[in-house]
Amino acid sequence: TASNVVNIVEVGPRDGLQNEKGVIPVSVKAELVSRLGRAGVEIIEAGSFVSPKWVPQMAGTADVLLQAERFRNVRYPVLVPNQKGLDAVTALLAKHSMSPPLTDEISIFTAATDAFTRANLNATTAESLERLAPVVAAALDRGLRVRGYVSVVIACPYSGQVDYVRVRDVAKALIDMGCYEVSLGDTVGTGTPTQVSEMLEEVKKSIPVAKLAGHFHDTYGTAVSNVLTALDHGVRTIDASVGGLGGCPYSPGATGNVATEDVLYALQGSQYHVSGTVDGTIDLDQMADIGWWISEQLGRESTSRAGRAIRAR
Ligand code: HMG
Ligand code: MG
Repeated sequence: TASNVVNIVEVGPRDGLQNEKGVIPVSVKAELVSRLGRAGVEIIEAGSFVSPKWVPQMAGTADVLLQAERFRNVRYPVLVPNQKGLDAVTALLAKHSMSPPLTDEISIFTAATDAFTRANLNATTAESLERLAPVVAAALDRGLRVRGYVSVVIACPYSGQVDYVRVRDVAKALIDMGCYEVSLGDTVGTGTPTQVSEMLEEVKKSIPVAKLAGHFHDTYGTAVSNVLTALDHGVRTIDASVGGLGGCPYSPGATGNVATEDVLYALQGSQYHVSGTVDGTIDLDQMADIGWWISEQLGRESTSRAGRAIRAR
């Protein structure tokens, strides 16, 4: 039976900010990472080493890593789409060698449909897997951990309902390449608990559930329910974004990830324990404040329901 410890991957600084239209200063992004670390978050996806022509907002990720406060026992994974991204990460690590290192983990990503992979990576899914395999091998060789993402595991904005067998095959390919974990993304955020359940049943046929993570966007308000469904299935790693920030530039209309505050609130008093560094967990009130702080930096209000309720009390 699975442990009751839930790990949160805080994707706010990456998924949360990558879709913003205005330029966010590096100092604000680094401050976000620092605040998340102080609130007890152990895994903070700090940004991406992708093409700035494709995703301009992630251009300063090296400086975000350099400026953010360092915490022991906190990891700062970054997204990498290709060899060029990995080379940028290793060059940065070589230039600034420190203990703990600036980062020890990359995330690679592809999708369950060709249409989405084309929009996001300019390749078919098969081509992307072929290109990523040597990148993963090189990263492992350089001592980095590698996480994999499969996008559009329920529905694709370009080709509709997704075949869960395809999700399983793509996830399995990432595990076989050497990813220690695969995060299953409901990129569009249309997924219902029933669909998440059916999708996980299929993927679990090929991958031990301990190697799976859930990544739910909240477009239709089902993200917290989908998190609980994934936990029921034995998934113990959940991607979440403070303030409910986020969206993918290549998933039109999708809103942010499940808010980290909402997940923390929903799991209070449950059989689950969220792992973190503040009294062994993540501090909900601090996270609610951070959700408001970063949202106000972006000129709006926090969209986290728990964050709004906490402010109002
Ligand atoms: P391409 O145009 O086919 O590639 O894009 P290219 O090799 O022709 O490169 C185009 C330009 O980008 C060149 O510059 C390259 O040097 C440069 P130029 O020569 O024209 O001046 N370039 C780079 N620059 C910096 N770092 C790099 C890099 N690579 C190329 N690593 C490519 C192919 C993969 C580069 C592009 O499609 C790309 O960057 N895609 C990333 C898209 C992205 O970041 N999407 C969001 C993240 S995924 C997501 O949000 C989903 C997730 O949250 C889960 C879920 O919700 O489902 C994870
Ligand atoms: Mg996402």
